[in-house]
Amino acid sequence: MSKNNVIRSAICHAIFWLVLGNAVGLLMASLLSWPECGRFISPFNYGRLAPVHLNVQLYGWTSVPLIAWLFYLFDLGKARTTLLAEIALWSWSIALGIGVYSWLMGSSSGKIFLDWNGGALWCFMLAQVILWIALFHAWYRGQAHWTFSGKWSRFAALMFLALVPLSLWISSSPDTYPPVNRSTGGPTGASLLGSSLIVIAMLLVLPRSIGIKGHLWQEKKLWMLWCAEFVAFILLEWRGGSHHSFLQIGGLALLLPWIWLIPRMWRDLTWSSAVLFWKNSMLLWWLILVLLGWLEFLPSVLDRMKFTNGLVAHSHLAMAGFTSAFVIFVSSVIGGERIARQFTSRAWYWHGAVMGYIIAMLICGWLEGVSYEWMSVNPFWRIMLYHVRFACGAVMFVVSIHWYVAMMKGNKRS
Ligand code: HEM
Ligand code: HEM
Repeated sequence: MSKNNVIRSAICHAIFWLVLGNAVGLLMASLLSWPECGRFISPFNYGRLAPVHLNVQLYGWTSVPLIAWLFYLFDLGKARTTLLAEIALWSWSIALGIGVYSWLMGSSSGKIFLDWNGGALWCFMLAQVILWIALFHAWYRGQAHWTFSGKWSRFAALMFLALVPLSLWISSSPDTYPPVNRSTGGPTGASLLGSSLIVIAMLLVLPRSIGIKGHLWQEKKLWMLWCAEFVAFILLEWRGGSHHSFLQIGGLALLLPWIWLIPRMWRDLTWSSAVLFWKNSMLLWWLILVLLGWLEFLPSVLDRMKFTNGLVAHSHLAMAGFTSAFVIFVSSVIGGERIARQFTSRAWYWHGAVMGYIIAMLICGWLEGVSYEWMSVNPFWRIMLYHVRFACGAVMFVVSIHWYVAMMKGNKRS
């Protein structure tokens, strides 16, 4: 098995989780449209399905392609590193499967995206340790082939990754901090800035890490700007404040220039024609996400959208729109032309359905924010918009199955 096959294998795992995550999302959407269906799936009620949908999309669909990226960076798949790579991949998926079982059985830490609890938490930490060992082993074997900076930057990444299992254990505990922050009810502008800066760092590092040829525009200056914004994030986080504070709104506005800076930085690079579609899609989702995300933080908008479907629209814009395009783009670049072409097939249906979902939920959230009357009368517009969401979800589900089948067929051929 070659390096390419290990990456292809990881991408198959990821799409499997996308199919499952979408199936559960569709089931949740049907329960919201036709609540009486809940009788047929009892005791697997909405509350048990929600963590499955969220975590499968996060730790399966959007994380496994990042593992493939690590495999690529550490040259896994060569000679004796293949078996360990496969073991690491399967351990990850099995641990997530155990997580799914535990959430369906009603066990959860109660923290959104950190629902890991009991035995499932230990299995997931073990999977992370196995992945780390596979990467370390590949680093140890491959160090002679890398330059000085290549060798030690990979080692620094390994040291950072060593902290992940421990931080998962600490942060998933309800004792570390409560599941819901009672003082704010949501993140500050600074914390949104901080988490988005991590995404920007990945976009900055991506072209070099995958050896794309061409000139990177103003690379050093952009990293300096990134560092300056990171310092701003630390200062603003320390000062605190809600979306009514000018400083927090201004702090979040520091993300706006990146809408243009990232495409400008990448403009002179030589991308293969097969990955252009998903590169451009990702940059377009990035533009919409940052612009709408900042507008949503403005006081009059967030006060109206808070705790409504407006935020469900945002979550799907961020995850089903931008993050999915990002992981598909990374998979296409590292996985080669055939994988890129497989993802391009039916991609317009995917984009159309995600956009339809987002618009339906945005309208729903905006109308919900006018008054809370809808809670008792269940108005027609809400019923209709929920049906639109279900229809868009059905299209996304079918496209994900199409990708999975295409990928499995491609696997058999190679
Ligand atoms: C990949 C990047 C991003 C992801 C995965 C993401 C995800 C999320 C999630 C899951 C929520 C919680 C939604 C809820 O409570 O129902 C949220 C809230 C929010 N996000 Fe993002 N987001 C991203 C980027 C951004 C960006 C770039 C901005 C702004 C420029 C932004 C602005 C917001 C705002 C204003 C909220 C609402 C905060 C509140 O409840 O007070 N997000 N995001
Ligand atoms: C078949 C496609 C999908 C359907 C039908 C669907 C449906 C749903 C539903 C019904 C909810 C619960 C909303 C609520 O509590 O009111 C939800 C939440 C969520 N979904 Fe999806 N989803 C789909 C695809 C995705 C994908 C591909 C991702 C990520 C890659 C994703 C990420 C999320 C997130 C982060 C939330 C939490 C939203 C929040 O609390 O604001 N979904 N989804």
